[in-house]
Amino acid sequence: MKKAFVTGITGQDGSYLAELLLAKGYEVHGLIRRASTFNTRRIDHLYTDPHEPDKRLFLHYGDLTDGSRLVTLLAAIQPEEVYHLAAQSHVRVSFDEPEYTGDTTGMGTTRLLEAIRMIGLNCRFYQASSSEMFGASPPPQNELTPFYPRSPYGAAKVYGYWMTRNYREAYDLFAVNGILFNHESPRRGETFVTRKITRAVARIKLGLEKRVYLGNLDARRDWGYAPEYVEGMWRMLQHHQPDDYVVATGTSYSVRDFVSLAFQHAGLDWEEHVDYDQRYERPTEVDSLVGDASKAQVELGWKAEVHVPDLVRIMVDADLAALTEED
Ligand code: NAP
Ligand code: GDD
Repeated sequence: MKKAFVTGITGQDGSYLAELLLAKGYEVHGLIRRASTFNTRRIDHLYTDPHEPDKRLFLHYGDLTDGSRLVTLLAAIQPEEVYHLAAQSHVRVSFDEPEYTGDTTGMGTTRLLEAIRMIGLNCRFYQASSSEMFGASPPPQNELTPFYPRSPYGAAKVYGYWMTRNYREAYDLFAVNGILFNHESPRRGETFVTRKITRAVARIKLGLEKRVYLGNLDARRDWGYAPEYVEGMWRMLQHHQPDDYVVATGTSYSVRDFVSLAFQHAGLDWEEHVDYDQRYERPTEVDSLVGDASKAQVELGWKAEVHVPDLVRIMVDADLAALTEED
């Protein structure tokens, strides 16, 4: 049975990736942070009692800031595939916490790569790189587009990208960068813009609140569907050689478009419910991201099927259903 180690397993992508790997018959080991409250909500449905003989999901305490723990864990588990998804992943927050973001999102990648090298682990390594690295480079963006990060988060991801490539070239490690454009789902963190909007739509529709406050409505993003994107991650590690790939839908919508579609789906007029709040602006913004994923399509056979209008329906319906169930 193949073993995979997943950092960030409690996050949006980690939870879908764990489902995918378990469905493919893997034994899955996830890194989780010790917290004073439960932080495993997204993977609770996958959890089985440790005494079950056929248990295939194992969770281990650890942190990206604790390099020696990464060494001892990897040495004990000996996974064939390592998916590095953990990060301080919020762009706006990275302006408030640039040092912490550099330590986790940037140096965390180096700690994991170095742990693999130190113990001589024979594995394949996936780095969760990001379209945020392209920043101010105009669209469409592909694997050859120059990086121009516009946030401490983007700069930390550029560092992680180059460390991954360096370990591939210096130590012959099967290490890949998945340069993923924004991808969303009903499990998206509540402070990212799509989920903030779809949650607000559901709450307004059910009369629980009246308004939502947003920042820049003009930014354009290439939003895809997270469950499809974790399939792209897996395909990269099954390929015959390590390389870097853009994963995107190739279409872009503005935040205003997303707002309008989401309210429309619930039969509401967005202009009656959306207000501007300057606090959600960033000191420097990424104006437009549109990915060209033709390399992933040709070499990995990966293509996005879910586009924004379907994504909006999936997310609004899920938020409405969740609130209705709570009643
Ligand atoms: P997410 O929902 O924010 O999940 C982040 C995960 O990282 C969580 O499991 C979190 O644990 C964990 N984590 C954070 N700091 C950690 C630390 N110091 N030590 C150990 N674990 C830590 O992010 P996501 O949307 O699933 O994204 C997954 C990865 O892809 C991230 O690296 C992100 O930057 C990158 N990415 C995301 C997108 C996107 O559109 N979603 C696009 C491109 C790249 P807790 O649950 O305990 O907080
Ligand atoms: N979060 C948030 N909240 N964003 C807002 C708001 C608001 O109230 N109002 C407008 N926006 C705009 C932001 O300024 C940005 O231009 C856009 O909505 C998307 O913001 P986020 O959803 O926070 O995502 P992001 O694009 O900054 O970052 C996400 O995608 C990256 C890939 O490009 C994150 O998932 C990153 O981890 C990921 O790497």
